[in-house]
Amino acid sequence: MSTPAALPGSPFLSWRGAQLEIEGHALDALAHEHGTPLFVYSRAAMRHALASYTRALAGRRHLVCYAMKANSSLAVLQTFAEAGCGFDIVSVGELERALAAGGDAKKIVFSGVGKRPDEMRRALEVGVKCFNVESLGELQSLSEEARAMNVKAPVSLRINPDIDPKTHPYISTGLQGNKFGIAHKEAVTAYRVAAGLPGLDVVGIDCHIGSQITEIGPYADALDRLLDLVEAIEAENIGIRHIDIGGGLGITYTDETPPEAETLVGQVLARIDARGHGKRELLFEPGRSLVGNAGVLLTEVLVTKHGTPKNFCIVDAAMNDLLRPALYQATMGIVPCIRRTGTGALYDVVGPVCESGDWLGRDRKLAVQPGDRLAVLSAGAYAMAMASNYNSRPRAAEVMVDGKQVHLIRERETVRELFARERLINS
Ligand code: LLP
Repeated sequence: MSTPAALPGSPFLSWRGAQLEIEGHALDALAHEHGTPLFVYSRAAMRHALASYTRALAGRRHLVCYAMKANSSLAVLQTFAEAGCGFDIVSVGELERALAAGGDAKKIVFSGVGKRPDEMRRALEVGVKCFNVESLGELQSLSEEARAMNVKAPVSLRINPDIDPKTHPYISTGLQGNKFGIAHKEAVTAYRVAAGLPGLDVVGIDCHIGSQITEIGPYADALDRLLDLVEAIEAENIGIRHIDIGGGLGITYTDETPPEAETLVGQVLARIDARGHGKRELLFEPGRSLVGNAGVLLTEVLVTKHGTPKNFCIVDAAMNDLLRPALYQATMGIVPCIRRTGTGALYDVVGPVCESGDWLGRDRKLAVQPGDRLAVLSAGAYAMAMASNYNSRPRAAEVMVDGKQVHLIRERETVRELFARERLINS
């Protein structure tokens, strides 16, 4: 038997001869057993990614709040809850999911630029750690909801530090002109307002500058701006107990070289210490960097179409299963589950959805035949969580590999389920 060879960015994904494996399980066999499209995750890969954060944070008061929008499947949440993580949520739906998976409400931060009153009430009822508030209007309505319930809402204000994270414009959030956060220059006034509202208890400060960030520089700049504010706010006798740096650390999809979480966190801590803020509790809200490279999407080749000027490899997964290429022109690795010999041809890998934007990869060199299975790499984050039923396509099944065990963590949706809540009109 040959020795497994690792793939870039995915320590638990490797080649054993011609076979692609995840934690030692052949992916082709998993696709055969569970059908395609199929998401397969490695639990060890998730724990490994988390450990990079926690190693750097050892000995500090800290909380890693997994940004569950990246992948909110219950068994994924359970994995992080069992590891002691909190959650960064953006809706009551995410709140209920986190609780159902064993999450501790006291470790949940509620982010998001628009929260409905009923969402605020439910979060107050279960006692979340903090609301990350993004506007003066939200401060006001949260205070009113809390007063009506006779409680105080713990709040942090999300500051827009006006930093360019140098990422895709759709996932850049910390620049002036983005809808997110409270402008840096208005922050002290906003804290004064928050401190004066009867239903609120100011506990922290936060920011989130964007996603798929591959450099430390933007974090360092945002942190400096945040610490300037902490000092200005405390000069007004308003206490800041925790600093939340947000998420955003990138992963390797193809040739990106983001820093290790341990390196990023180490540098953040050094800066915080240098400015004398080392005693404060620190929060991080990573999503993609915890799950992105822990998962793959398996798909079967339906047919190949050879022509001019392009060849198409038509597969059974589509933009409804994996929206990132269509939405962000994202490049994600695509490899066969079993490598064939031969040079192959250049293909656009596309799905069956009736849109020209329905592609998973462009100009990929592949040696494939109908019936072969392919793995789209780095599909653990923002893949299943963004899946839809467009073209009446049931959502994929999900499998979690955990050492020797293979767990089906989500059954494939059925077509009947897709229209079970719809009604015909009596006529
Ligand atoms: N905290 C807040 C307030 C956020 O808005 C986000 C992501 C995160 C944390 C986690 O960021 P991460 O560590 O995952 O970068 N669908 C896009 C990414 C959207 C990110 C939205 N916010 C994609 O597929 O690239």
